[in-house]
Amino acid sequence: MLPVGADRYRLAIVREPESTENDEGSPAGVTLRGSLREAMQAPPTVYELVGGKNFFKDLVNRFYDAVETDPVLRPMYPRDLRPSRARLAGFLAQYWGGPPRYSETRGHPRLRLRHMPFEIGRAEREAWMTHMTAALGAATIADGTGRRLPDEIRVLMFEHFDNAAAFLVNKAD
Ligand code: HEM
Repeated sequence: MLPVGADRYRLAIVREPESTENDEGSPAGVTLRGSLREAMQAPPTVYELVGGKNFFKDLVNRFYDAVETDPVLRPMYPRDLRPSRARLAGFLAQYWGGPPRYSETRGHPRLRLRHMPFEIGRAEREAWMTHMTAALGAATIADGTGRRLPDEIRVLMFEHFDNAAAFLVNKAD
């Protein structure tokens, strides 16, 4: 499993007044401990691997362009879809290891609670997943190369969407 989480860059500087040397090559009396050392060796997050926030913006834009003309989903969303685009892109960037911008503006995601005002049954779930699966299928890494999203990451993201969509169903058909 690839690591996610944005709090691994926390820096701990520990002063050691007694010592004149240490085994980490740091200046005498200062040792870098814990998360900075780990961060320097840690593998990249999914957020970094896909090219950062532009990947999520592109993915969500493709998804919402399809929602615009979907007869099941369109009536559920506000007239202006721009804030919805920003919220979903921010949430996904944060979830996959990017900066916690979503929570800074929206608080805890509480997705099930936030979806309660909308009736989500089989048709809504299928329509949502159809558009998101198509958006994932067309996704490329946001680094200017146009490289296709690697299958391992596509599968990871698909599974997250599929599980979350099942969890958000709140209407018995
Ligand atoms: C199962 C089918 C789904 C339907 C019908 C649905 C529908 C909606 C609607 C109508 C909104 C309100 C518009 C807005 O505030 O942007 C919304 C918001 C949102 N949805 Fe979904 N959604 C579904 C699945 C998902 C999934 C799978 C995820 C995440 C993996 C997700 C993440 C979000 C987020 C982050 C918001 C914004 C929450 C906020 O901050 O208010 N939704 N959704």
